[in-house]
Amino acid sequence: MKLSVIGCGYLGAVHAAAMASLGHQVIGIDIDARRVAMLSAGEAPFFEPQLNELLRAGIVAGRLSFSTHIDEARGADVHFLAVGTPQRRDGSAADLREVETAVAELADVLQAGDVVVGKSTVPVGTAQRLATTVDGAGAALLWNPEFLREGWAVKDTISPDRIVVGVATDETGTPTDRAQVAADTLRGVYTDAVDNGVPFLVTDYATSELVKVAANAFLATKISFINAMAEIAEVTGADVMTLADALGHDERIGRRFLGAGVGFGGGCLPKDIRAFVARAEELGRGESVSFLRAVDEINLRRRDRAVYLVEEALGGSVFGKRITVLGAAFKPHSDDVRDSPALDVAARLHGLGATVVVTDPAAIDNARRVSPQLTYVAGRDEALRDADAVVLVTEWDEYRRQLSPEHLATLTPGRIVVDGRNCLDPAVWRAAGFHYYGMGRP
Ligand code: UDX
Repeated sequence: MKLSVIGCGYLGAVHAAAMASLGHQVIGIDIDARRVAMLSAGEAPFFEPQLNELLRAGIVAGRLSFSTHIDEARGADVHFLAVGTPQRRDGSAADLREVETAVAELADVLQAGDVVVGKSTVPVGTAQRLATTVDGAGAALLWNPEFLREGWAVKDTISPDRIVVGVATDETGTPTDRAQVAADTLRGVYTDAVDNGVPFLVTDYATSELVKVAANAFLATKISFINAMAEIAEVTGADVMTLADALGHDERIGRRFLGAGVGFGGGCLPKDIRAFVARAEELGRGESVSFLRAVDEINLRRRDRAVYLVEEALGGSVFGKRITVLGAAFKPHSDDVRDSPALDVAARLHGLGATVVVTDPAAIDNARRVSPQLTYVAGRDEALRDADAVVLVTEWDEYRRQLSPEHLATLTPGRIVVDGRNCLDPAVWRAAGFHYYGMGRP
């Protein structure tokens, strides 16, 4: 099929390349000429495993191209909307300007019978509003939220665990005829996944929009739940890691996303829960999701805790100390520093008068743009040299698996390790003479 993807950021670039790999003819559109040039050369503008290979294969096969001109989307059967919906600068709601502009511009190139598929994360009610413009052009709007995780984006796009499709419904809640046809078209786009048994759930617009924010709200809540338990563990001498393991054996709970530490960050979870609260308040149901404010607060408090542990370990103050921060990305296998707990902890330590050296295998360039006041060193060992304390805040393998206490001891006389991700073995580090501090651990 002929597809267009409007917006080639994280979501769109991966989606375009993945759809081309499935055999579709894809044009990716983005207003950023530099990004389009990079993608056209087969180079991802951000770090994402497998993406470069997929881009190059699609381009070489003649199935994938990129452009800054939305006119080139004309003639595609299906147009995916993959532009950003960041947090508004003046509050916690989502900024929908990119989505609105994209739909307005797309309306001029739509042909009768086209299908427009929204993938961006939007506040509930947005699709219904945008549908008027799309309908006016004789096309049909579907909402098909994306659940991809950074670092696994290619895999998650090609083999998702579910496909959710919001469609226009009549007053009885039944999909309209045009919506049925459009949903069948989208099923055709995803035919490989559907044939492999991936659930294809057709629902109304509001439910499809809510599925996405509810999923992220649940994941954020799960992380903050275990981090709240970490706070209790800290005043009782309990060990949150053993607690999480024990809870996780209950199949109803499960161990995943019970990783206590410096908490969640990134371009999705933090802004999505804030936008959800803002939207619920607009709808007069703020109280229904007021717990998400606590989820956000618990999450941010873990960063304070990490800073406090470093201060405590260094005798009460970090002033004038040399501290190496291992990690800047919000999680490993990513160069994304949006709302990164790692970078926030580093910046706070700097603010308290420490000399902070930050290293990361992928995120240094992005981190430097956001926090230019910090010192960045690409080489791990060079960064660690002469550190009074080491703070591990992004669990890259380079730090959690490939750094031994014996090796660290050769680089620095400092014997303090604060493990913000609870990913090191305290017994091993303590046996080697280090003062080990975990999050929510004795
Ligand atoms: C998330 C959702 O998982 C994905 O479905 C959605 O489409 C986008 O948002 P992503 O932002 O890539 O994906 O990151 P994810 O892997 O979910 O991790 C989010 C944050 O939570 C990271 O900062 C991670 O370090 C943290 N985290 C995760 C924990 O602190 N503890 C855990 O147990 C798991």
